[in-house]
Formats: sequence, structure tokens, C-alpha cells
Amino acid sequence: MIISASTDYRAAAQRRIPPFLFHYADGGAYAERTLRRNVEDLADVALRQRVLKNVSALSLETQLFGETLSMPVALAPVGLCGMYARRGEVQAARAADRKGIPFTLSTVSLCPIEEVAPVMQRPMWFQLYVLKDRGFMKNALERAQAAGCKTLVFTVDMPTPGARYRDLHSGMSGPNGPMRRYLQAMVHPRWAWDVGVNGRPHDLGNVSAYLGKPTGLADYIAWLANNFDPSISWKDLEWIRDFWKGPMIIKGILDPEDARDAVRFGADGIVVSNHGGRQLDGVLSSARALPAIADAVKGDLTILADGGVRSGLDVVRMIALGADTVLLGRAFIYALAVAGEAGVTHLLDLIEKEIRVAMTLTGVKSISEITRDSLVQA
Ligand code: FNR
Repeated sequence: MIISASTDYRAAAQRRIPPFLFHYADGGAYAERTLRRNVEDLADVALRQRVLKNVSALSLETQLFGETLSMPVALAPVGLCGMYARRGEVQAARAADRKGIPFTLSTVSLCPIEEVAPVMQRPMWFQLYVLKDRGFMKNALERAQAAGCKTLVFTVDMPTPGARYRDLHSGMSGPNGPMRRYLQAMVHPRWAWDVGVNGRPHDLGNVSAYLGKPTGLADYIAWLANNFDPSISWKDLEWIRDFWKGPMIIKGILDPEDARDAVRFGADGIVVSNHGGRQLDGVLSSARALPAIADAVKGDLTILADGGVRSGLDVVRMIALGADTVLLGRAFIYALAVAGEAGVTHLLDLIEKEIRVAMTLTGVKSISEITRDSLVQA
């Protein structure tokens, strides 16, 4: 068993929120092998203990796309994040912003772009999916730019959804599932205050704004299911690259050849990711995929990575394997579900402390000093 702050928050979240919501966040695709490997392979990466290196003055500061981050961490885009606490995206964005790190709003957030961006001092990051409805994509990009977003995270590993059987079992997906579960949760005395806003189902902010009508969870799932686009290729992305004025990051790269294509395309960054094991079960864990990708493209663009990061030690491991900055997914969702903004702030404080301890005991003073030299063959 792996013990960390996010593991403790996970257990608490499971006790606190409706099962269909817990399993939606906690689960992965098919038999969940990649989901498990993400966590286990990363935790198995052995750090190299060094001593007597005078590491009294540590700096975790990180430069990324012209921004200064207090530590090499950002919050990953998580769809329906707003269901894990009241106006959940706003709460998570505030916590990240006050900590000095970026927050990424998912395409399929509950709170719309215009609600979340203004609560932050730094520009919000915005994540976009490839969707058949190009009108929606363009509308979302225009609104994100109007709200001051600079960094676009463009997620390309969802041309079709992975089968998530836990969602079928929990009633989150499947015929008539979501609305039934959702309504049950809304009237349940323990959860009602959390998942409903004034007794109304949540709107799906960005989708509702585009469709021009309120959309509940069932509408959203139906809309999304018809909108995955397997026909997409690099060529089809050129209009987005030309349209978007700030840095563009391609999320969902797991292969060195695709990473080289991202460089050729002119991307500013990639996220090495298998979508947290939610897409194709059986692909490599992020920790195992990352070193070869770093060998192929390090220095040509910025490398971000996610998947299985549950502690500050995991952040240091990912950086040693080749990442410049690391995204947190489930780790912050569990904390958000338990204690809202305060929970995410607490989690980020713990992660920072853990990074400091790992740097001290591996004998490095700055993030750029964390390299493969900080690892040892287990
Ligand atoms: C995600 N992820 C995701 N990614 C994305 O680009 N857009 C999205 O809307 C979502 N939605 C989403 C929902 C939930 C509940 C989860 C858990 C994940 C993937 C996410 O950004 C990230 O890649 C993974 O969460 C990283 O793995 P860990 O840290 O959760 O293990």
C-alpha cells in the first residue's frame, strides 16, 4: 500500500461523496491495469540519496511559458470537477492560484470559463478536446481568449472514449443511468448540498453556454458521446495553432514518434499522459513512457507529464525521468471532494513539503538540478 496525503484524501473522499462520483474519478478503463501501473511504476522509481551537500537554501521556483511557478506542479484538466465541491472548479482554481501554480479548466467543466478565470490572478489554462462540432471548439477558444487565457492544453488522446466499466456499474453511464443516479444523490440527505445548486441540477458551463440552454449530466453525456472525432490528424489542428495566440500544449503523448510530430507541428509543449489510465488499458504507464520521450525531444519543447502522481516524491521522480513540470489529477480531486478549496490548499502544501524533503535528501538545490542522476537503478 502506498501512503501519502492524497491516499488519505482518497479514503476520506470515498466515505464522503456519492459512489457514482467517487468511482468516476477513481476508476480507469477496462481492467484498470494502466491505471494501477501509473501509480506503481512511478512509486517504484528509486531516488538516489546523497548527503552533506549543503542544501540549506532550496528553490522550487520554475519558469514555464513565461510564467513563474512556486513549484513545478499544475492542476490537470478534470471534467465535472465542479461536482466534487460546490462550484468546485472555482474552489480548486483559487487554491492553485494562491499557491502560485496554474489551474487548467476542462472543456467539460461545470463552471463556465467566464466564472473561473476572474477568480485567478494568473491567466487560467484552458483545455480543449477534439470534437466533431468545430463550432463549439472555435466558440470555446474565443471565449477562453476573451477571458484572458494564454496557455491552451489540447487533448488528443480521446478520439473515442475508453470503456470504463466502473461507470457502468455505478450507474454513471449506461441507459438512463446518469440522471437517475444524479437525482438520487441530489435528494439523499448526506449529499444533497454538495451536488445540487439551490436544488437545481448543475449546468455544464461551457456546453450550456454554447448550446444556449441548460444542460444536465445526461444531456452532457449524450452530447459528448456523439462528438468524439476519430478522423482528426495533425493537419486538422493547424487552424487551432494559427488561431490561438499563446502557448499550445498537446496532451496525451505516449510515444517518442508522436512527440517528434508535436515538435514538427510547432507545439510549445506536450503532456506525456495516458489520460490517467482512462483510455486504452494496457498502454505503458507514464513513468515508463517518459524517459524515451525525453530522449527524443527534451530541449525542443516543454515536457509536462501526469499519471499516478500522488505525492511530492512522485513529482521529483517525474522530473528526474524527464518532465519539466508535473500535472496532478486525481490527487487534487480527492482533496477537493473532502474539503473544497481548503483541502486542495492543504494537499498542495503537503506536496511542496514533500518536494523539499526529497530535494534535501537527494542533494539538489533547484528544480533544474533534478536529473536522471537523481535516480538509482533499483
Ligand atoms: C480526467 N482527465 C481529463 N483530461 C483532459 O484532458 N480533459 C478532461 O476533461 C479530463 N477529465 C478527467 C476526469 C477525471 C475524473 C479524471 C480522473 C481525469 C485526465 C487528467 O487530466 C490527467 O491526465 C489524469 O488525471 C492524470 O492521472 P492521475 O494523476 O489522475 O493519476
